[in-house]
Amino acid sequence: MASAGREGLRLMGQALWFASRATGLVVLLLLTATAVLGACTTMRLASPRWPRFTVAGIHRNMSLLAGVFLLVHVAGAVIDPYASIRWTDAVLPFASTYHPFWLGLGAVALDLLFAILVTSLLRLRIPARLWRTLHWASYLLFPVAVAHGLGIGGSDTRLGWVQVYVAACVLAVLLSVWWRTRASHPDTRARQAADRIGW
Ligand code: HEM
Repeated sequence: MASAGREGLRLMGQALWFASRATGLVVLLLLTATAVLGACTTMRLASPRWPRFTVAGIHRNMSLLAGVFLLVHVAGAVIDPYASIRWTDAVLPFASTYHPFWLGLGAVALDLLFAILVTSLLRLRIPARLWRTLHWASYLLFPVAVAHGLGIGGSDTRLGWVQVYVAACVLAVLLSVWWRTRASHPDTRARQAADRIGW
């Protein structure tokens, strides 16, 4: 009876660890899709079937979904007793005893993502400049999250297909950043001019 209980706990721990690894990869994909859709929003990409507000809405919902999957990723890693990760390790960078540096980067990515999500939800109540400055932090969040996933040396990142998957995400984000730097719209130029004179 006791050994069946122990076996049950072992299987549960294993399931949590698998869930944590799988959701880490899902978060990376959702962050990639969010970055690409963000570039589409900035580039005013739209069609009668996909109006601008739809693209912007999917961009927002994708980032919220990334937040939900990130919570599952963290919960799996913390609840599973194997690595003795505490809840505080997920928010306080470099405080963990388990891979302090690489897990710390995960905590930095989590803090940035939730700061971006909260300020975006409060966008109409905070100064536009503050929102935009924090939104630029997305460009820091992505490489930090990728470094965390690769550096912590999880079992999956050693697999060939996972390396191709991560490389494809990085390439997609790099291309969307390059594309985004070419944005030039009358309203973008007007906003930049207003920023320069401190409006
Ligand atoms: C945006 C933030 C984050 C992203 C995109 C992310 C993504 C990833 C990815 C892709 C992996 C590799 C999975 C594997 O190779 O098995 C991973 C591993 C891991 N992550 Fe995260 N992560 C994030 C934040 C966090 C945070 C805050 C924690 C804190 C608890 C955490 C804990 C872990 C652990 C413990 C592993 C290692 C799993 C193993 O050794 O198999 N991550 N993460």
